[in-house]
Amino acid sequence: MGEPEANDQTAPAEAAPPLSKSARKRLLKQQRLEERKAQRKAAEKERRRRDLERRRGEWEEKLAGAATEEERARMVESRKETRRERMEKRSEERAMRIERLRGAAEVGQKLVIDLDFADLMASKEIHSLVQQIIYCYAVNGRCASPSHLWLTGCQGEMDNQLQRIPGYDKWIIEKEKKSYIEAFQDRKEDLVYLTADAETVLDDLDLKKIYIIGGLVDRNRWKGITMKKANDQGIQSAKLPIANYLKMSSSQVLTVNQVFEILLKFWETRDWKTAFFQVIPQRKRGELEGEIEAPEDNAPEDAADVVSGSEDGAETDLEDGGERKKQRTREAETLEVEEGDSDIAEAAAITHEDKEADDEVTKQREPTN
Ligand SMILES: C[S@@+](CC[C@H](N)C(=O)[O-])C[C@H]1O[C@@H](n2cnc3c(N)ncnc32)[C@H](O)[C@@H]1O
Repeated sequence: MGEPEANDQTAPAEAAPPLSKSARKRLLKQQRLEERKAQRKAAEKERRRRDLERRRGEWEEKLAGAATEEERARMVESRKETRRERMEKRSEERAMRIERLRGAAEVGQKLVIDLDFADLMASKEIHSLVQQIIYCYAVNGRCASPSHLWLTGCQGEMDNQLQRIPGYDKWIIEKEKKSYIEAFQDRKEDLVYLTADAETVLDDLDLKKIYIIGGLVDRNRWKGITMKKANDQGIQSAKLPIANYLKMSSSQVLTVNQVFEILLKFWETRDWKTAFFQVIPQRKRGELEGEIEAPEDNAPEDAADVVSGSEDGAETDLEDGGERKKQRTREAETLEVEEGDSDIAEAAAITHEDKEADDEVTKQREPTN
């Protein structure tokens, strides 16, 4: 540990030695992924445009079918009313979310995302991490019992990218320039670094403890780095009890947003199995013998899936061989959040809490509306 492995993307281009055959293959694969991603984005944009056009056409047709001017006015008024109601509902939801998040600062489980690793990531990886943080903030806000979420080590490039998130300045979250070890210097004994390399298994969450997630998107290039950090600092470490419930089809190293969401789900249900099944994509998990039943509310096909995937980027068996599933796996491998994904769009929209009116949010979702 200590030095990055062969696929380090942070070295300056001119200093890089000629690429090995496998590195060239990886690069090609990455380029293909990016091309496909751009194509998917364009297709999604086009689909939205057509959808909007269709809806507009339908509305105009309906309006043209009005028998009288009065009926027409009634229809317009009714449409406005529906919009008003929708906005009010959103405002109420937002108010409730704000209340829950403020409450969490008093009574919530403290969870820290350690952002001290920016120097070890390429700009793209930092971007991915920022997307994962947006996702974490959004799921936290939706959660009935949110955590008290901390971002520590908000500095440099990391902070620059965070500051670019629309509405970030109004997030109800602790943003701390200092590292967690300084920020919680009086509570060192309560700090628990979560890391897949720990020997200790996390059985339960303890409100008195402060759990730390490593803010790292590295495809496990920096294997063991968080474990070493915890050891060097003399703080506790623990791994999620994945092996007790699942036989993963690849490594047990999960992404930041997955770990965060698992902790939220566990907090809500007090059931690790439910938490794992709801968050870890189906393709990534096998079953331990005699553990065949998934919880009923297993929902692998959601947005978490899009930003998820184990961090080793390993290829997974796709039983159905379907292109969509393959694409999703590739998306997971790149650990990128698709802007077009509805849940992520929602996540982003939630970050616009500071906006004066809800229709601003609507405009952002449907810019041409
Ligand atoms: C993408 S991983 C980073 C992997 C990195 N090489 C490392 O050594 O931690 C992001 C973070 O999620 C948390 N994490 C991932 N898988 C975990 C697991 N199975 N148990 C506990 N924490 C985990 C850790 O805090 C980890 O730093």
